[in-house]
Amino acid sequence: MKLWGGRFQKEEDQLMEDFNSSLEMDSRLISEDLTGSIAHVKMLFGSNLITSIEKEELLQGLHSILEDVQEHRLTFDGDYEDVHSFVEGHLINRIGETGKKLHTARSRNDQVALDMKLYARNKSLDLLKEIDNLKGTLEDKEKEENVIMPGYTHLQRAQVVTFNYHLRAYASMLGRDAKRIKSALEIMDENPLGCGALAGTTHTIKRDMTTKELGFAQPVENFLDGVSDRDYLIELTSHFSIVMMHLSRLSEELIVWSSQEFGFIQIDDAYATGSSIMPQKKNPDAAELIRGKSGRVYGSLMSLLTIMKGLPLAYNKDMQEAKEPFFDSVDTTISCLKIMNEMIRTLKVNREKMKEAVKAGFLNATEVADYLVNKNVPFRDAHGVVGAIVIYCEEQNKAIEDLSLDELKKISPVVEEDIYEFIMYNNILRKGIKKEMIVES
Ligand code: ARG
Repeated sequence: MKLWGGRFQKEEDQLMEDFNSSLEMDSRLISEDLTGSIAHVKMLFGSNLITSIEKEELLQGLHSILEDVQEHRLTFDGDYEDVHSFVEGHLINRIGETGKKLHTARSRNDQVALDMKLYARNKSLDLLKEIDNLKGTLEDKEKEENVIMPGYTHLQRAQVVTFNYHLRAYASMLGRDAKRIKSALEIMDENPLGCGALAGTTHTIKRDMTTKELGFAQPVENFLDGVSDRDYLIELTSHFSIVMMHLSRLSEELIVWSSQEFGFIQIDDAYATGSSIMPQKKNPDAAELIRGKSGRVYGSLMSLLTIMKGLPLAYNKDMQEAKEPFFDSVDTTISCLKIMNEMIRTLKVNREKMKEAVKAGFLNATEVADYLVNKNVPFRDAHGVVGAIVIYCEEQNKAIEDLSLDELKKISPVVEEDIYEFIMYNNILRKGIKKEMIVES
């Protein structure tokens, strides 16, 4: 069914029809499309453009389609150009002539702008819930245990931290991600319905009615901008890209930690896979997939920016191509958040391995220097002294705390017995502002 056949004298070529159709891809907007149309019908009545009987007929028809959608009774076939044509066609089939009044004072241009906004908002709220779940899981993992592990810079053992504190770094990142997404939702909170094709309508429609009904803060300021704005898709996908960058960094750590070289964690069997040839293998595929899928989401962001670049005002069909990258990026990000949540929740920590790594890495060297500072040695001198201690330890194949007081005193006479208490790993974390890393139960 064509919504625009009147002006044409020749049939559309099949190749063109297939090329132009977006139904397969935008059928996922159908709930939003119906929600928008229901609000539109109420507004048409409120603006005296349809009678009360027509309003009831239209609403009943739209609600019956919505019910069929919810019960999965509709199949998206037929020669419909897009989801909007599909809904209007079905409405006219169901309720007859009155169905033809639905599109009064509306264009598919403001309609699709509305559908995408509603969809983007709904999906972003789902995504925010997943961020919250993962954030909570990260914050709670091994919370009371204060399992110590090496903290790294340059992937070289640096100073002692706890496993929970390390994970809480990712929780902080997700906290910022959530703020960014909420801010994008606020910026996009304007109703495009009523912009018409590009220049509003001669009818005196009450845009504040649909604005209120659809839960927007206000109508868009400018009709031309309203139908051609896809900033919110770009902004959200940019924020999803940052989420994916964070998940990818965490994935990288899980992959490295679960290697035999580290052996810090074990990924649960439910989130790993094996090899078809090497019977002993257990691979961290979920983490690798998340790392890989970050590339997909970045790709969607580049697609969106490039599709919108150089478009003259107002609507252009190019914008139909802006849907799929958004759909893919939001789906991908949600699925990655979900699987990461499960992976973290179920992973097992190898405390002994982490502790061994702490002990073998001179992870209290900085604190030995701090100890010397407390004994009034200037920090720069203390740094040099500890360097000498580390060289001596490497020669002797010992940790700093394994040296005798005599050995230590030979290198620095200010060292006393109290050094051993000061530089023990668990104690380090209870000193100064390092206390923030510890969860006191
Ligand atoms: N299918 C179109 C899209 O996704 C809807 C708007 C089409 N408008 C038009 N005048 N052809 O963007």
